[in-house]
Amino acid sequence: MDGVPWWLLLLLPLLDISAATTEPCELDSDDTHCACNFSDPQPDWSSAFQCISAVNVEIRGGGRSLEHFLKRVDIDADPRQYIDMVKALRLRRLTIGAARVPALLLFGSLRVLGYSRLKELTLEDLEVIGTTPPLPGGGPVLGLSALHLRNVSWTIGGAWLVELQRWLKPGLKVLKIAQAHSLDFSCDQVLTFSALTTLDLSDNPGLGKRGLIAALCPHKFPALQDLALRNAGIQTPNDVCSALATAGVQPHRLDLSHNSMLATAKPANPGCVWPSALNALDLSFAGLEQVPKGLPAKLSMLSLSCNRLNREPRPDELPKVGNLSLDGNPFLVSGNSNPRSTVPSGVVPACAHSPLAVGMSGTLALLQGARSFV
Ligand SMILES: *[C@@H]1O[C@H](CO)[C@@H](O)[C@H](O)[C@H]1NC(C)=O
Ligand SMILES: *[C@@H]1O[C@H](CO)[C@@H](O)[C@H](O)[C@H]1NC(C)=O
Ligand SMILES: *[C@@H]1O[C@H](CO)[C@@H](O)[C@H](O)[C@H]1NC(C)=O
Repeated sequence: MDGVPWWLLLLLPLLDISAATTEPCELDSDDTHCACNFSDPQPDWSSAFQCISAVNVEIRGGGRSLEHFLKRVDIDADPRQYIDMVKALRLRRLTIGAARVPALLLFGSLRVLGYSRLKELTLEDLEVIGTTPPLPGGGPVLGLSALHLRNVSWTIGGAWLVELQRWLKPGLKVLKIAQAHSLDFSCDQVLTFSALTTLDLSDNPGLGKRGLIAALCPHKFPALQDLALRNAGIQTPNDVCSALATAGVQPHRLDLSHNSMLATAKPANPGCVWPSALNALDLSFAGLEQVPKGLPAKLSMLSLSCNRLNREPRPDELPKVGNLSLDGNPFLVSGNSNPRSTVPSGVVPACAHSPLAVGMSGTLALLQGARSFV
């Protein structure tokens, strides 16, 4: 197997060809979507060849370690010899998941994918081990517009963002980081995300106010328009207000839904001024029994849907709002005091089936509760 270009492992796996019983990869009929799940103990890696024409490719490693590949492939192969082939790929979106992967292998693959037209990269359920290789001579390689990470752990801890960012050309517009193991970035080394308009830190229930302040590196997100913090351990809107003020972040839209907000709205910290650009705020599924104090004075959209408001908010309790949503609050539902109701008290049935409905934001919180972010 000597001389096999080592990066092909993730993109076009060639090795370990063996008699497998099930076909790990499936390509849809219009050659757009191809998904591989190498969960078999003796997977037929060559099956991934059928993904070569696909636009969206998902490769999942069945939770196995890819460390042994490092010994069997040519780490120093010059990727330029494959340029024409990689350039011809239709690949736009790639998901790599469910594996323990050496950073050398992962970053080496990114280097080669830099020659492709890949726009969106998703890393999911990955354990990235070891140190990252040095950046190739020509500088950043990967021109992504969106990068999504879910449940990715790194041996290098909170330095992962700095390392990964060095490989990205400027121009990343969307960054989503869920179920993170470390969001405690070394902010002084993080470069400015000059084109980033969407930052989504949802599904990090251990984040909270302190974690948010650590993750929102000051003045590194000058173009931010959308900030999503669903299920992120946020206790009051005011916590977010102060984190935004500290970081100098000026989002236009802020999603704080699916957090268990404190039932009693404490008077707001008088020092906190919301960004003037903020015009939409989502506070749905937040367990609110009353409208929190200290909201922005004026908004074009405010959602308080699926909370526990027992009476209609008075105008003086609300910001000036163009579009106010109050659906799914108890005061709008007749007969909500039914003692035999199977939904938790105060939760309107129409709102109860969200997996993260108030009072049941469970699974992720249980899985992640012990992790600390700061
Ligand atoms: C991959 O296969 C395993 C075992 O069959 C299964 O448990 C898992 O859900 C599959 N993953 C995906 C994304 O289909
Ligand atoms: C997170 O990823 C690891 C592999 O790195 C996996 O073992 C674990 O089951 C994943 N957790 C969840 C909640 O999917
Ligand atoms: C108000 O916001 C809701 C939810 O975003 C949207 O569906 C609706 O069209 C908006 N209404 C107006 C008048 O803008």
